[in-house]
Amino acid sequence: MSNAEDLREPILPGKGASDYERYLRTDDLLSLQKRPEELLHQDELTFQVVHQSSELLLKGAAFELERALQRVEQGDFPNTARLIRRANMELDYPIGLLHVLETITPYDYHLIRAGLGHGSGLDSPGFLALLHIGPRLGQAFHQQLQQAHLSVDDLYRRHAEFFALHEVAECLLDFDERIHLFRFHHLKLAQRIIGGGVVGTMGTPVEVLHQRMEHLFYKDLWDVRNQITAKANDALQKSGTNSKY
Ligand code: HEM
Repeated sequence: MSNAEDLREPILPGKGASDYERYLRTDDLLSLQKRPEELLHQDELTFQVVHQSSELLLKGAAFELERALQRVEQGDFPNTARLIRRANMELDYPIGLLHVLETITPYDYHLIRAGLGHGSGLDSPGFLALLHIGPRLGQAFHQQLQQAHLSVDDLYRRHAEFFALHEVAECLLDFDERIHLFRFHHLKLAQRIIGGGVVGTMGTPVEVLHQRMEHLFYKDLWDVRNQITAKANDALQKSGTNSKY
C-alpha cells in the first residue's frame, strides 16, 4: 500500500468509514433527527436542526463561560475576556438561527407543534446553563472590583489604568446584550408564529416571554452609563455649553 493510501485508512476507534466520521461521530449526530417518513411536515427537519444546533452552541458557550469564571477568580483578566468573547461569538448563531424558523408558516407550524408534547424551551439545557453561570460570573467580577477598591463608576472613569478589568466588564455587557437579543428575537418569532396572546406548550403565556426580557444579569453595568451621562451633563451646564447627545 502506498503512503497516500495509508493516510486514507481510519486509525481512530469507533463507527464510520473515515476518521472524520469517527472523530465527529457523524453517524450518531446525523441519526438524531426524524427520518423523512417520520416527519409530521417537511419543515420539521429544519425545526429540529435549528433547535439541536442551538443546543450545541449554547452548551459550547456555557462551557467557555465556566472557564471564564475560573479565570476571573484567579485575576487573569485578559483570558477571562478572551473566553467570554468566544462564548459571545457562539451565542450569535442561536440568535441568527431563530430567523430561519420565521420561514415556517403558522398553519404548517401547528402540524409540527402537535408532536411536541409538553416540550418547551423553558427546559432548554443550554439556556438554563447560561442562566446559571450569568449571576456567578457577575459575583466574581464584583469581588475583583472590591479587591481593587473600585466602584463600577471608578472602573469606567479609570478605564485606561484598569484596561483588562474594563475589558471584562464590556464582555459581560456583550453577553447580557446577547441574552436580551435572543429573548427579543425569540419573542418576535413566537408572536409571528403562534401569536402574542396565547399559551405555550407548557402553559406559559407568550406574554411571560415579554416580561422575561426585562431581566438583565448586570444592571449596574448598564446603569453606570446613566451616571456618566448625568455627570457629563452637569459639567456641561456648569461650563455653559449644551449637548443633545
Ligand atoms: C417556532 C419556533 C418557536 C416557538 C413558537 C417558540 C415558542 C416558545 C414559547 C411559547 C415559550 C414559552 C414557554 C412555553 O413553551 O410555554 C418558549 C420559551 C423558550 N424557548 Fe421557544 N419557541 C420557538 C423556538 C425556539 C428555539 C429555536 C429555541 C432555541 C433553543 C427556543 C428556546 C426557548 C427558550 C430558551 C425559552 C425560555 C425563554 C426564557 O427563559 O426567556 N425556542 N418558546
